Amino acid sequence: MHVAVCYNEKPRSGSSAGSSSEGSSEDLSEPPPFSSERYAEFDDRSTIEAVRNALSRFHEVDLVEADESAYIRFLEAQPDIVFNIAEGLRGPYREAFIPSILEFLQIPYTGSGPLTLSICLDKPLTKQVLGYHGVPTPEFRVASTVGEVEDVVKGWAFYPCIVKPVHEGSSIGVWNDSVAEDPLQLSERLRRAISRYGQPAMVERLLPGREFTVGILGNGRQARPLPLIEIRFDNLPEGSKPIYSYEAKWIWDTPARPLDIFDCPAQVDEGLSRSIEEVALAAYRILGCRDWARIDIRLDERGIPNILEVNPLPGILPDPRDNSCMPKAARAAGMEYDDLILNVLEIACRRYGIKTIEVKAI
Ligand SMILES: Nc1ncnc2c1ncn2[C@@H]1O[C@H](COP(=O)(O)OP(=O)(O)OP(=O)(O)O)[C@@H](O)[C@H]1O
Ligand SMILES: [Mg+2]
Repeated sequence: MHVAVCYNEKPRSGSSAGSSSEGSSEDLSEPPPFSSERYAEFDDRSTIEAVRNALSRFHEVDLVEADESAYIRFLEAQPDIVFNIAEGLRGPYREAFIPSILEFLQIPYTGSGPLTLSICLDKPLTKQVLGYHGVPTPEFRVASTVGEVEDVVKGWAFYPCIVKPVHEGSSIGVWNDSVAEDPLQLSERLRRAISRYGQPAMVERLLPGREFTVGILGNGRQARPLPLIEIRFDNLPEGSKPIYSYEAKWIWDTPARPLDIFDCPAQVDEGLSRSIEEVALAAYRILGCRDWARIDIRLDERGIPNILEVNPLPGILPDPRDNSCMPKAARAAGMEYDDLILNVLEIACRRYGIKTIEVKAI
C-alpha cells in the first residue's frame, strides 16, 4: 500500500525553537510567540522517521510536510491513505487543515476528522459538549478579552483554580504558576494568558485527586482502552504545584535527568479502573474520535473521574526512555512502537473498508 505520513517538524537545533531543555533559558516576559513553546506540539525528526520506519516494514511510504504545498503534494502523490500526525501551522483550527484537504481530495487518512479535531482544540467547547451528555468535567468560565476578566473573577467562587489558554495543547500556557489561590492572582493569570497567547483564556476548578491518562484504540464497539497511566506528582521538584505543567513536561524532564512521573499500568482497584475507562470511552464516542486518542482525566474530591481534555492526535515519541503516554501504554499492552503505528493504520483501513495486511491484533 502507498502511505503518506503527514507531519509538522520542529525546527532543527540552531534555529530559535528546539528541544525541551532550551525552554528554561527563555525570557518569559517577552510577548508571544515564544519559540520553544510555539513548536512544542510539532514532532522531532526522530518521531517522523520512527513512524516512517514502522510503516515501511509493510508499505511504500512518502513523507509530506503539512505546509502550504501539502495540497499539491497529495494531489500528485495520490497515496492510498495518509498517516496523519500533523499538528497544523496556526490558529484554533490548525489540526483540521490536513484532514479537511484530505476530505476534499477523497483521500483516506488515519485519526479523527476536522470537526472532532477543531472541537478538541477548543477546551471550553469540548467541556460544553461533554457536559451536555452528563460527562463530569470541572466547572469553568471563559474570558475572551482582557475587558471581560473582572466580570469573570467577580462571578468565580472556586479556589484554588487553574488558568489556561483555550486553544493550546502540550501544556502550552499551563505553567506551574497558572494555579491561582485568590481573586487577585486569578485576575493576573487571566490577563497574562490572554495577552501572551492572543486568545481567550479559561479558569477551571483545580481538581485535587489523582490524575490519569487513557489511550484508546479502535472504533465503535471495538474501541478499547490501553492500560491506564497515572501521572504522579510526588517526584516533581520540591514546592511545585501538583499539575503536569509546561515546566514538568518540557523543562524539568530531560533525557539526562528524566522525571519519574508515570505509573503504567496504574495501581488502581477494579472499580476505579472501570469508571475511568467508561468515562474515557464515553468522551471518545461523544466527541466522534476515530482510530486513536488519549484522554486526560482527574479525580475530584469525591473520587469521581472528570475529563480534563481530549487529545485526538496523541504524542508518540518513539524512545522508550521518553515520557510519552500513548507508546508507553501500548507497550504495557504488549505492543511495541511499530505495532502501535501499524495498528492505527490497520484500524483506519478497516474503517474505510480498505484491505491491507493483518498485523498483531489489539
Ligand atoms: N482543572 C484541573 N484540575 C487539576 N489539574 C489540572 C486541571 N486542568 C489542568 N490540570 C493539570 O494541568 C495539566 C495540563 O492541562 P491540560 O491537559 O488541560 O493541558 P494540555 O496542554 O491540553 O495537555 P496535553 O499535553 O495533554 O495536550 C494536566 O495534565 C493537569 O495536571
Ligand atoms: Mg493534557
